[in-house]
Amino acid sequence: MSNGEAIAAHLTIDPAFTVAPVRRRTFGTFVEHLGRCVYTGIYEPGHPAADDDGFRRDVLDLTRELGVSTVRYPGGNFVSGYRWEDGVGPRSQRPRRLDLAWHSTETNEVGVDEFVAWCRKAGVEPMMAVNLGTRGIEAALDLLEYCNHPGGTTLSDLRIANGAREPHGIRMWCLGNEMDGPWQTGHKTAREYGRLAAETARAMRMIDRDLELVACGSSSSAMPTFGAWEAAVLEETYDLVDAISCHAYYEERDGDLGSFLACSTDMDYFIRSVVATADHVGARLKSRKRIDISFDEWNIWYLSRFTGAEPPTDWPVAPPLLEDHYHLADAVAFGGLLITLLRNSDRVTAASLAQLVNVIAPIMTEPGGRAWRQTTFHPFAQASRHASGDVLRVEPVSPTYETAVYGEVPLLHATATRARDGGVTLFAVNRSTDRPLSLEIDARALGGARVTAATTLTDADVYARNTADDPDRVAPRPNPDVEHDPLRVLLPPVSWNVIHLS
Ligand code: AHR
Repeated sequence: MSNGEAIAAHLTIDPAFTVAPVRRRTFGTFVEHLGRCVYTGIYEPGHPAADDDGFRRDVLDLTRELGVSTVRYPGGNFVSGYRWEDGVGPRSQRPRRLDLAWHSTETNEVGVDEFVAWCRKAGVEPMMAVNLGTRGIEAALDLLEYCNHPGGTTLSDLRIANGAREPHGIRMWCLGNEMDGPWQTGHKTAREYGRLAAETARAMRMIDRDLELVACGSSSSAMPTFGAWEAAVLEETYDLVDAISCHAYYEERDGDLGSFLACSTDMDYFIRSVVATADHVGARLKSRKRIDISFDEWNIWYLSRFTGAEPPTDWPVAPPLLEDHYHLADAVAFGGLLITLLRNSDRVTAASLAQLVNVIAPIMTEPGGRAWRQTTFHPFAQASRHASGDVLRVEPVSPTYETAVYGEVPLLHATATRARDGGVTLFAVNRSTDRPLSLEIDARALGGARVTAATTLTDADVYARNTADDPDRVAPRPNPDVEHDPLRVLLPPVSWNVIHLS
């Protein structure tokens, strides 16, 4: 990466123009029974940092530092073959099962009660998925009753007998996972799934009408059924669910860094298309209700390196799977995705970074050893910590560049939020691979605002990574290139930037 002459870009911040409140649930993540996410991730009895319940304190600390709001559980593809009853009661009596999704053996040492206990320690809200692959309405109702009913029934009393006196009080429920994907156990057509999701939702609402329910949308915008799937599912479920899911993963392909850094273009297209489809169904149904989006799986994932087509034949317990090691460019592309989620906060009301620990994750651990922050940890933690109040409508003006995948794309990608105390935080990505952006900020509407702090996440090597031995190689550092009159900040090539104004 060379450091050519700076290119001018500018944006205007005006608190009169807002998108929506910042949704805390944008900062959700995901814990699936997959690889080492649960076992040697959040849970490892015998580890020097394990607490009395076997949870790793180092991972709990990093989860809090990451600023996680909700955690989706227990899958993912895993949930479509899961029997939740296997994971409750005395550990010694819990069955070991084949997990068809990841060709592993599930020991069931951790189940819903342990997960909720972990959530309480981490200070996060649990978000539960029900199995609509191999199971259906009855199992979903049983799980809901077990989790949320105060007591006096067989299932709620079983929870109490298992040590959870208070109901788990889980509000958000996913009606299955990626049911549009042929890889899913119990994969269905849109009509088959839509009917099952509708009847499951209707029955769950008979227990608690105020639950927040999410129907499965498409597993990616590239699915052949994309669009038609959402329309058919929402025709069946419109009045019964609150949101439809989107899932998207991105990676650098064929050395095309320029397209990769612009991958949020696809996420934005995905969101707009699903909003348009949902509103179209709503219009046809003459409904005044609005369906929101739960972007409940998103991340950088080097799926092309995943050897899922040749799964292990020995059914290992918690094998290392999907352990991508992220570099600087991944973190910048990732920051761009976060900006897009925030910019769409009027309709994206929840999101889950997939996943939390070890499996395509911001936190990595060694079994029995250290835990550290991947490069992607930092944009997430900074956005979660500093985005509050309202998302402002910001329209950056920037030169563009040509990408092979998305055509002409702006070099600057940005959003801003305004906290209740009036402080404004700008989040900005420079997608240029060789030129800094000289970003001029018109903040006249803020009345003499100054830049009070600015950090940048960048590196001379766009492929620099953090490791257990060098955990802070890529981390946000103060950005010294700030001018005050006019307000101007220099954004290095391939960088994620956070700028505070007050
Ligand atoms: O997050 C990894 C996997 O990606 C999930 O299990 C699945 O839902 C998606 O395909």
